[in-house]
Amino acid sequence: MKIIYMDNNATTRVAPEVFAALEPFLTDDYFNPSSLYEPAHGPADAITAARKTVARLLGNARPAEILFTSCATESNNTAVFGTIAANPDRRHIITTGVEHPAIFSVGEDLQRRGIDVDFIPVDGDGRIDRVEFVRALRADTLMVSVMHANNETGVIFPVEELSRITKETDESIIFHTDATQTVGKLPIDLRGSFKHVDLLSFSGHKLHAPKGIGALFIRRGTRCRPFLLGGHQEDGRRAGTENVAFIVGLARALELAMERHDEDEPRILAMRDRLEKELTARIPYLEVNGRNAPRLSNTLNVACHFIEGEGILYQLSAEGICASSGSACTSGSLEPSHVLRAMHIPFSAIHGSVRFSLSRYNTEAEVDRVIEVFPGIVDSLRRLSPYWDAKKNEPRPEAMEMLTRAEMP
Ligand SMILES: Cc1ncc(COP(=O)(O)O)c(C=O)c1O
Repeated sequence: MKIIYMDNNATTRVAPEVFAALEPFLTDDYFNPSSLYEPAHGPADAITAARKTVARLLGNARPAEILFTSCATESNNTAVFGTIAANPDRRHIITTGVEHPAIFSVGEDLQRRGIDVDFIPVDGDGRIDRVEFVRALRADTLMVSVMHANNETGVIFPVEELSRITKETDESIIFHTDATQTVGKLPIDLRGSFKHVDLLSFSGHKLHAPKGIGALFIRRGTRCRPFLLGGHQEDGRRAGTENVAFIVGLARALELAMERHDEDEPRILAMRDRLEKELTARIPYLEVNGRNAPRLSNTLNVACHFIEGEGILYQLSAEGICASSGSACTSGSLEPSHVLRAMHIPFSAIHGSVRFSLSRYNTEAEVDRVIEVFPGIVDSLRRLSPYWDAKKNEPRPEAMEMLTRAEMP
């Protein structure tokens, strides 16, 4: 069976162009870039070139401001723990209630260690509460960490504006953004609209580079202690022999994303919009999470009332379709995701959310297939649901009141 892969916010396939660029550094040019002999100069030069490319494509950052890491989780942890370690005098951090666990659980850990952490709430469409954000900024605020776009819903936060407000309030507050879902998709100009951002994290495997490579932008002058100690790699800011091949791959993937953006983005958006329109039209009691907010053009998160996302995913999987569930908790429990809970998605839908996330490799025919299969899956699961009257093929009267309730009755 041919796989239809629509889970690109989880990971992406490595682009052939990226693989071609990185392969020589796994085979012929495998030398340690820190070694002194001549053959090691190739890998060392390749890292220098990759750093320049990444810096340039993020709005002419300085190459020295780009730190290569192993993933966005490492970049996020380095940004937060490194900032705290370098600035022990301030003890307050602001983040949001919908961050990826690579920030959210760091925030919870910091609370346990006695740091004051504010998780700013969002509205029903996943938009940040600006009033609460401004109110949270304090004289002892060390750092703000706000994601650029949400991995589950695709909702985009106004990072340009929030970073400007932060700096206007207090120039010394350090602003971090987790841009893992946006680098290569949305414009990021670290000398222009993102000039108030001090730290920015992202990861290769979300933009057709391999898993196991990430980067952290650290603006010159930002105090951030290294997270990994050891050798002198990355100018002493991140020890560990460099992953030369994947660094090269990351730079090539970013280059490719920029080169292809004007062609890929409208095509992906058109496919996503068609999927959204058709599913909404064909399936009753289906809502789009984050519908009224600015969203990434590749992401569609739908809430199907009265059924479980896991059931939908299994049936999609049986058809060869890979998507993911907004309620699938990474810990394996059946708790709905903290993102959908923060959005107060009605109880009848919070377990029934499914995320489709597209990439340049998806086709119209794949979208057709999902449109063909998905309504039948929802219908068959609803017929088994205790909230659904299978004879009348409609929700039971007592289930209707749950449509607007955020909590379990
Ligand atoms: C917004 C966001 N931040 C961080 C991460 C973690 O990325 P990595 O797998 O590279 O550690 C992800 C991955 O899903 C993400 O979507």
